[in-house]
Order: sequence, then C-alpha cells, then structure tokens
Amino acid sequence: MRKIVMMLSLFVAAMTHAAEQPKRVSINTPHMSVVVEASADMQPRYVYLGDRINQQDVDNAQPVSRTPIYPTLGSELVHESALAITHADGSMATDLRYVDTQTVSEGSTTVTKICMQDKVYPVTVNVCYRAYKDVDVIETWTEIVNNEKRPITLNRYASAMLPIRKGNVWMTSFHGAWGNEAGLVERQLQRGFVTVKNKNGIRNSQTEHAEVMFSLDGRAAENSGRVIGAALCYTGNYRLQVETYNTGYHYLLAGIDEECSPYHLARGESFVTPVLAFTYSTEGKGGVSRTFHRWGREYKLCHGNQLRDVLLNSWEGVGMNVKEEEMNQMMAAVHDLGGELFVMDDGWFGSKYPRNNDSAGLGDWVTDTKKLPGGIDALLADAKNHNIKFGIWIEPEMANIKSELYERHPDWIINAKNRPLVGGRGGNQLVLDLANPKVQDFVFGVVDDLLSRYPQIAYIKWDANMSIVSHGSQYLSAADQSHLYIAYHQGLKKVLERIRAKYPDVVMQSCASGGGRVNWGILPYFDEWWVSDNTDALQRIFMQWGTSHFFPAIGMASHVSKSPNQQTRRLLPLKYRFDVAMSGRLGMEMVPSELTESEQEFARKAIADYKTIRPIVQLGDLYRLVSPYDNSHVASLMYVSDTKDRAVFYWWKLAAFVDDHLPRITMAGLNPDRVYTIHELNRIDRNPLSCEGRKYTGAYLMNHGIDLPSDHDVRNIQTGGWSSRVLYLVAE
Ligand code: DGJ
Repeated sequence: MRKIVMMLSLFVAAMTHAAEQPKRVSINTPHMSVVVEASADMQPRYVYLGDRINQQDVDNAQPVSRTPIYPTLGSELVHESALAITHADGSMATDLRYVDTQTVSEGSTTVTKICMQDKVYPVTVNVCYRAYKDVDVIETWTEIVNNEKRPITLNRYASAMLPIRKGNVWMTSFHGAWGNEAGLVERQLQRGFVTVKNKNGIRNSQTEHAEVMFSLDGRAAENSGRVIGAALCYTGNYRLQVETYNTGYHYLLAGIDEECSPYHLARGESFVTPVLAFTYSTEGKGGVSRTFHRWGREYKLCHGNQLRDVLLNSWEGVGMNVKEEEMNQMMAAVHDLGGELFVMDDGWFGSKYPRNNDSAGLGDWVTDTKKLPGGIDALLADAKNHNIKFGIWIEPEMANIKSELYERHPDWIINAKNRPLVGGRGGNQLVLDLANPKVQDFVFGVVDDLLSRYPQIAYIKWDANMSIVSHGSQYLSAADQSHLYIAYHQGLKKVLERIRAKYPDVVMQSCASGGGRVNWGILPYFDEWWVSDNTDALQRIFMQWGTSHFFPAIGMASHVSKSPNQQTRRLLPLKYRFDVAMSGRLGMEMVPSELTESEQEFARKAIADYKTIRPIVQLGDLYRLVSPYDNSHVASLMYVSDTKDRAVFYWWKLAAFVDDHLPRITMAGLNPDRVYTIHELNRIDRNPLSCEGRKYTGAYLMNHGIDLPSDHDVRNIQTGGWSSRVLYLVAE
C-alpha cells in the first residue's frame, strides 16, 4: 500500500513538474530578452521582458504574471481582451491554446511565431516577434486566420499585449493640438485604465501620439533608469490602453482603434495587425530614444542614413501667391545663402478653379498659368540656373468641393450616405475614398504625372489637411462600411508602395496640417515630416522635444521663419531662430530678401556651419540634457557622433528674469577620456565665451559641466533677452 502511495505521489510530482515546466521561448536582441512559455493546450504567457538574460535565468525566471500573451474575450480571464470575435454561429467566446513555435531568420532579424488555435473553432492566431540582431528593437504583430465555414467578425484585434511591471511605474505619452504638437505628458500609473487614442482617420498624431514610454523606477529620468518604449507603427486610428490590474501589474494593449471598425473575415481570409515596435533600456528615456532613432534611420525612415538638404519653403513667405518671378528670386536668394533645395508650397495649380485660397482647386493638379506662365518647366529651368534642387507641394488625398475633380467624381469622396456633405478646412474640403482602387490610381497618378513629366523634381511635400468626419464609403458595400478606416490606410499604403517602387529617390515630406502624420507607419515611405505649422522657435523647442522621444533629428523639418512669428506674433532674434532650427533638419520659410544685409550674412555663415555639423545632428546620438518642461528657464540637448569624436551642444533660454539662477549644464554621451575643444557657432557676442577654444576632458564636461552667461554681450543687436548658444565640440 505504502509503495502504491509513494509511486502515486512520484507520478503526481512528475506530472506537476511536467505541468510546471512548459517550453520557454526566448526572443533576444543584443541587450534585451522577452521570454514566453507555452505547452500544449496552454495559453502562452509572458515570463520575462527586460535586459538580455542567459539560458539559466530563462529557465528559472519567475513568470511575470498569469496573463496570456494575447488575452481573448471568452477565456477565463477578465482582463481587457486583445481579441474579441463573433464566431460564425454567433458565439462570442474565444479561447486560444498553444500549437507550436516557428522561428526563421530574415536578413538581420529573427522572426518567432507563437502559433495558437481556438479550442473549439477553426480560428488560428499567430503572435509574431521580429527581433533585430544589431539594434535593441522587437517588432510584434498578430495574424488572425478564419477557417470557419462562414465569416467571423473581429470586434477587437490588438497588435499586441505587453507586460510592463508592478509598482511605481510612470508613463510618458504625447498630447497636442494644431500648432502645439507632441506635448509631453508624464503620469504615475494608478489602478485602472489609461487610454491613448486617435480616431481622426487621417492626422493621427495631431493630438495624441501612438508612442509611449514606461519608466520602471519611478518618475522618468533622461539618462538613467529602466524604461520600456513602444510605438505602434500605424498611420490610421489607434488605441493604446494601459491597464493596471488589481494585482498592481501594468499591461499595455496596443492596436487599431476598433470603435468604428468591426472587421469581417471571410472563410480562409486572414487579418494582419500593424506592428508594435518596442525596446527596453537601462539608460532612461534617452536610451529608448537613441534606440528608436537608430532603428528608424537604419530600417524604417526612407533614406534614413542620407544627409538632408538645407531648403527654403515658400509657404510662410508668400502663402498661395506663388508667382513665377518671386519663385525665381527666392531660389536665387536661398542659393546665395547656401541652401540646396527650394520647395514651392500650396497655390501653384487649378485652372477652372484656381487655387488662390483654400476654398478651391484642390484635386485639379494642373499648373495655374496665370501665376506661372512658363509652367513648371520654367521653374525647373530657373532652379537649374541657380544650381538648386526643386520641390513641390501636393495634397493628393483630398479635393475641394469647388474643383473639377469633384464635379467629375462626386462618387470618389468619403461622406456618410443620406447625409449632407461635411467639409473640412473652412468647410470646403473633402477626403477622397482611398478604399476605392480607382481613387488609388488617381492619387498615384498625381505623383506619377509630376515625376514622369518633370523628372527634375527632387522633393515632394505631401500634405493632408482634413480628418475623416462623415464616415461613409461609396465604394464599400453596406455590410463592410466598418472597414473604411482600415481600407483607407491599406489603399494609401498601396499607393505609397507604388510610388516608392517607381521613384525610389524622390525625397518626400509627410505633412498633415503640421505634425499630423508623424508615426512609424507612414515614415517608411517618407524622408521627413513637418513638425508643426507653428514655426515660433520658442514653442518649437517644446514640440521638437516631444517629437524627439521617438523620431530622429534627420527627419525633423525645422525652419527659420520671419519675426514676429506668423502664429505666435513673438519677436525672436535671428540667432535664436537659427539656433533652434539647427537642432533638426535645417530649413527656411520666409522671403530671404526681406532679411537685412547683416542678417543675410549671419544666415549664410549659419548655413555653412550647419553643413559642418550636419552629420552629427542628423546621424548622431541625441542626449536630452535639461527639459523645457522642468521650469528651469533653459532647455538643452546635444548630439554626439558615433565615434564620440564630435558633438554639438544646444542651449536655449526660455524666459528672461533678473537674478535668475540658470542651471549649470552637465553634458552626456561623450568619451570621458577624450579631450574636446569647444567652439561657439553662430556667435554674436563681442567677446568670446570663457570656454571658447579651450580643451576639456569628456569626464569634466559630463561631471562638472559648463556655465553659460545668461545674456549676450552685444551692441546694436536686439536680443529681447532671448539668449541661445550652439557649441561645437571636437575631440583631439
Ligand atoms: C498645411 C501645411 O502644414 C502648411 O505647411 C502648408 O503647406 C499649408 N498646408 C498649405 O496649404
């Protein structure tokens, strides 16, 4: 009897052991590991997400939670679900169990698929991970396949669920508005839910942003502490939801916003969600940013490693009044200042309905010969003459109600059935229905016509100034109206893929009323983005600060405009405006001939110096030093070259008070053992800074830092108290 009991308990122990030891799959980048465990008939769950760990720790790690990697509605869990399906028979319960793991090597990445199947219904779900071998980013997404006999409806279909941590976790997200994009929001996570969501349809980063960071050691620090950063790579509607469960554990669910988009999957069809890219850093928020910048430049942003031109855009200079001779003069002027590219913005097109203001012409992409008698050919000849590249503005996804396009194709626009037309941008503008393949051909044709007729066009500014407000497609069937938001972006992607296949070299800017389309879903097709229609240098410091959390300086279009600023009416010295714009992709947005002789001289020198530091700014590592949100009346950041032999340091005063004790700034990212010589760029002071031409070790600059005078030592230059500095550091 004792023997039987012993054998039984050994058997039970063996069974328990077997049940406790499911297979563990680790997904690794150079410094990060994610571990998932799974066994037959189990819901795969996360064991670990953090620093890279060895096999022993993989084997022994205590599971972070009981939550499955892809929680479903209808299994025993009460968490927010990543997946909710109405099955063909009306059942709303889904319960996924592990089937197997597939791993393949693809270029510089390894793709791991955790394959699952519903216990009852023939629905398969693969949660996929692409781990980069040379950068600490994992991309995750989900494939859902319907093998039921009839269609199913996906009510929820998140890209991913990520386990964050228990405890004092702070979340960084971004919230803005037109003219004030990418504002920083930092909060401590409490029990319950935090939602970051956008359902604009077109401009998905004008208000919220689809990127978040989680600081695991309390309030986020710039260059220390453990931080998880995640970005949904999608340019349509999204919902990122953080749930803090009653265990104190925080989870992130991220994906397409399903509110307006229940999705029907026919038999045999599959749905692939957008990618959620994430990283883990022990170097604070700055570490997350640097990783995203590197990954972005290397693998995502179009031409991510090619230096960008210094350009002049006509918009704030002349608005829609784009006359041939003025364009010619602007090209000559910017070339004279050292610029390399001229971009003619809105206002150049329209025949029956000329584009003299934003109420007409959109959709009719023919040159307005009243304004431009020689057409684009003449402009290109002028550009050639001035030895400068030429770029042009378009807004191909839209039409004005007053346009020949709308007269010809009222069926091409998005508007809910049986409802009055809802116009955007003053009530005059409509969105074309990119779900419709004919519209896709038209939008492709706008670019194709321009670039095939005028191959000299080197740059396109692609704008989008309206939201999808009256939700309804004349192309999609009544049953599939809820597919519109997704079909729109699938259509847009097809168009952009065709453009990139035929015109791989053209430089394109993503603009949507300013920073409305800054996301890792669209940027693979674009070289840069317009941060904001607000070019006021002071407010730009805040907006560029926020944007820099996930997006690299190489794509951050940052233009010097006139003073007082068009949006804020603020007067800022030219030096300050250049000092801010030179921390991104430098450009100008004014009529250069309106600058005085001495201002032109300043601009010429600044542009020449920018060309020297351009590789460091555009390809280097960003270190944010003092945040404009810290209320210390200064902001400061720097870029350091890959080999740490060059760096550029920026310092901007944000307010002017008497007896203000501005902080001493400690630098970051330098080699502590190397010796750097400091040179001030854009100098206006009569006497050099006390550090000018002097040598300092990286250790001194990073531990002790430097003090900068709060004012400029000038006569006959009005600074209005706005001081700023750009220092160039060169190692021996
Ligand atoms: C909105 C953009 O953000 C501006 O830069 C400019 O291109 C206008 N549209 C033109 O209409």
